[in-house]
Amino acid sequence: MELTVAPSASALYAQLASRLSTVLREPGLQLGLATGTTMAPLYQAVVKLHGQLRPAASFWMLDEYLGLAVDDPRSYRSFLHQHLLAHFPIDKNQLEFPALERLAPAAAARDYDERLSRAGGLGVQLLGIGMNGHVGLNEPGSLPASRTRVVDIAESTRVSNQHEFGDLALVPTQALTLGLANLLEAKELWLIAVGERKAKIVARALEGRVSTDVPASLLRAHPGLRVFLDAAAASELTASR
Ligand code: GLP
Repeated sequence: MELTVAPSASALYAQLASRLSTVLREPGLQLGLATGTTMAPLYQAVVKLHGQLRPAASFWMLDEYLGLAVDDPRSYRSFLHQHLLAHFPIDKNQLEFPALERLAPAAAARDYDERLSRAGGLGVQLLGIGMNGHVGLNEPGSLPASRTRVVDIAESTRVSNQHEFGDLALVPTQALTLGLANLLEAKELWLIAVGERKAKIVARALEGRVSTDVPASLLRAHPGLRVFLDAAAASELTASR
């Protein structure tokens, strides 16, 4: 595991934006994109600092809510377009998203998994971490062998994501997510966390017991795991002191 702790969130995002711009330029690279409040400033920094680049990578998405139209502004697909993809010249065939507009969720999950396998798996996958240690929407209890599938979203995650919908009752109860096996097959995993509110779960994920109770802890077995933290998110780690 490679651990980077930046003195501030803005220093972290500037560093990550530069690394990500290199990845974006790599022809044939399969890049898995994540969403959420952690990723938005990263994408903003890439757009601001590297706005001239022509991406050569192909784009996959980590997870998606079910029960929303794919063009619903609250969908993760819309998030990725709004924050990143719409700002660059990207060919349609560089976008590899779950076919939820034409397939039922379980079939879309299988199709997505098969397409990803045919493409050789992910080169780089960006990951945030949920307050309960989820990665993608692999909630506690998810198995290391899990693949792309339909999952129930944990109640605590629905509460955390309530701000995207205004009302808890409107937050979808299910999602499609890449599984832990898909993540463990990626060449590199970039796990990013920012802010004090993530400090405890980051410490459990990186220094606690490896357990399905904290799905992010299962990624420690991956030789290409790179963890990027600001000082606040790293503040509960013993090893970095
Ligand atoms: C959400 C997303 C995850 C994200 C995580 C952390 O539920 N599905 O992909 O990484 O939770 O979100 P945030 O960065 O907003 O804290």
